[in-house]
Amino acid sequence: MEKKPWSGRFKENTDKFFEDFSESISFDYRLAPYEIKASLVYAEALKEANILTEEELNLIKKGLKEIEEEIKSGKFVFNKSYEDIHMNIEKALYEKIGEVAYKLHTGRSRNEQVVTDLRLYLMDEVENLKKELKALLESIIAKAEKYYGVIIPGFTHLQHAQPVLFSHWFMAYYEMFKHHLEKLKDYEKRLKICPLGSSAFAGCGFNINREKIAKKLGFKDITKNSVFAVSSRDFILELLFILTLIMLDLSRLSEELILWSTQEFDFIDLPDRFCTGSSIMPQKKNPDALELIRGKTASVAGNLFQLIVLLKGLPLSYNRDLQEDKPPLFQALENTKKSIKMMELLIGGIKLKKENIEAHLKKGYLLATELADYLVTKGIPFRKAHHITGEIVLYAEKNQKPLEALTLEEFKKFSKVIEKDVYEWLTMENFFKRREIPGATGYLNVKERLKEAKKEIAEL
Ligand code: ARG
Repeated sequence: MEKKPWSGRFKENTDKFFEDFSESISFDYRLAPYEIKASLVYAEALKEANILTEEELNLIKKGLKEIEEEIKSGKFVFNKSYEDIHMNIEKALYEKIGEVAYKLHTGRSRNEQVVTDLRLYLMDEVENLKKELKALLESIIAKAEKYYGVIIPGFTHLQHAQPVLFSHWFMAYYEMFKHHLEKLKDYEKRLKICPLGSSAFAGCGFNINREKIAKKLGFKDITKNSVFAVSSRDFILELLFILTLIMLDLSRLSEELILWSTQEFDFIDLPDRFCTGSSIMPQKKNPDALELIRGKTASVAGNLFQLIVLLKGLPLSYNRDLQEDKPPLFQALENTKKSIKMMELLIGGIKLKKENIEAHLKKGYLLATELADYLVTKGIPFRKAHHITGEIVLYAEKNQKPLEALTLEEFKKFSKVIEKDVYEWLTMENFFKRREIPGATGYLNVKERLKEAKKEIAEL
């Protein structure tokens, strides 16, 4: 059996079962490009601190670059008995350049390497996520623009409530995902701090230039406490929280689109290419893409919770428990990125069924609030106006008539103040004209917001 790099004080070889139990290379191989990037810069810092000669540095650089190529081309063999990505690369470097490889670990600990690699990895992942979110925002705007002017029934408690422009309803999701994108940008401030130089936890014993290392690696700053640097996983927790928020809103949107595609609603047609059939019922067209987004939300929320529980009660500084931070992180990133993309593609193919939606508008007394507001303009206190309108709705419902079909005599039975002008109030036109207050569903407002959003997105 191969000797472990730390085996000097051990009398026994590592147990085979334990070796398998404790490895992380099966998942932390993803960090390979960052491990190499950070090692290249660290080697330069060692040279500047007179720990490596120019020749040794060049040898290490050459070896690391060869390994990088082998990993890229898929030739590199990751080995479980070398535990993790850090040891796998160190071992490969040793095989290429001999003992000089071991000088690279001077003053360095895997405790700082793993957080440096993770932070670098996440810096790239967050860039990708921001791009994906931007594409989603663009698809939302495009759909809202395409169907500008279509009125849908708005819901509270899933009951018909008031009319609303489809574009306004849909742009609510734009606001949600835009906020998540902004959260990612803010998160980057706390992500882009470089732990290298923290060593195991007490700080490096050699005089390496930390600021220079951080700058070369693309960090904005260095960590200010070496114990914090190797112990904290808040930079993972915070991202998982943002990913969970993204998934929650994707899930709500999924649920809404699933409802809208049912026979009962029949507001939209989902593109065939993102639906599946049934193995027994030939007529079926199922919204699986959306259901899977909703389902994967459970997994991402679970990943967040896993990290919370992992960290609870962990004393400082590094503990091996922390190795378990990676599977939930990788899984959450994978699921969230795929779900954002899936939603973006699906939105592009959704068609509104305008006639069906129009038929729905006739149901549920969507303009009842307008009648109450009308009574208010005639001097009736709102609570009373609300009550009178409720009675009128009950009467209209019993007679199976919409409000605007009631005669003036019928109206007057409920309130003497109602005059002919009530009919002007009971129109969609009136409803939308009265809702040009900022943030409301008025036609001009919504058009303006769409224009503004397109500008906003260019700067996001
Ligand atoms: N594979 C480890 C992890 O993911 C790297 C750090 C190991 N450090 C240690 N002292 N065993 O956390």
